[in-house]
Amino acid sequence: NNEGTDTEKKVLNVGTEATFPPFEFMDKGEVTGFDVDLLNAVAEEAGYEVKIDNTGWDAMFAGLQSEQLDLGMAGITITDERIESYDFSDPYFESKTMVVFKEGVTIEKADDLKGKKLGVQNGTTGQFAAEAVVGQNSPDISKYETAALMFQALQSDNVEAVVTDIAVALEYQKNNPDSGLKTMSDDEEFQSEYYGIAFPKGSELTEEFDAALDTVLDNGTYAEIYQKWFGE
Ligand code: ARG
Repeated sequence: NNEGTDTEKKVLNVGTEATFPPFEFMDKGEVTGFDVDLLNAVAEEAGYEVKIDNTGWDAMFAGLQSEQLDLGMAGITITDERIESYDFSDPYFESKTMVVFKEGVTIEKADDLKGKKLGVQNGTTGQFAAEAVVGQNSPDISKYETAALMFQALQSDNVEAVVTDIAVALEYQKNNPDSGLKTMSDDEEFQSEYYGIAFPKGSELTEEFDAALDTVLDNGTYAEIYQKWFGE
C-alpha cells in the first residue's frame, strides 16, 4: 500500500440498469443496491474507484462492446451466448426464473404461461425463459426496456404475468403488499443461473476482479453485504 503517497486510483466506468431492486435501483439520484455495495467492495480490494452510470440495459452491453465502459454490473446472468461477446467474473449470486402475477390468474407451472399475456425485460433471461415455453417471437410476449416498465405493465393489467429473476420478484412483491401479487417458479423447467460482472472481451480487469472477489467472499465482506440486503 502507498499510504502517505499521493497515488490516484484509476476510475472505472460502470454501466447498469438501475430499476432492478434489490440489486440496483435509484435512491435520491444515486445508484444503490446489493450490486453497488459488492462492486464497491471488490473494486476497492482490487485498487480501483468506480463511477456507476444508469446507462440502461442495451446501452450497457453496447458500451462494453465499444469499450467505453470498463464493466457492467446489473444482475447479469452468465450465459453461453453472452460469454461469446463478453468476459465475466466468477459467479457472485445464484438466481432462478420467477413468474409474478395478480390474483385471479392461475399459473402453477411453466406450461401455464401458454396463452397468457406476458411481460419481460427486453434481452433478459426472463425473456428467454418465457420464449422457451411459449415460443420465440410469440405475440403474447411484450418486451420492456426496463424492469420497472415491465412491473408497471403488470400493475396496469397490460400483461397477466411477468417473467423475471427470483430475488427481484420477491422484492417487488414485498414492496407492493397491497397488490395481491403471486409468484411461481417451476423447478422442472427453470434452471439455476448465476450473475457475474461483465467486462469487454479480453479485459485485464477480469482476473484482478476475480482475485478481489475471492477475498471479499473469504473475509466476510460479502456476507455482510448479503445480510444488509437479504437478511430479515
Ligand atoms: N439476470 C437477468 C439477465 O441477465 C436479468 C438482469 C436484469 N438486470 C437489470 N439490472 N435490469 O438477463
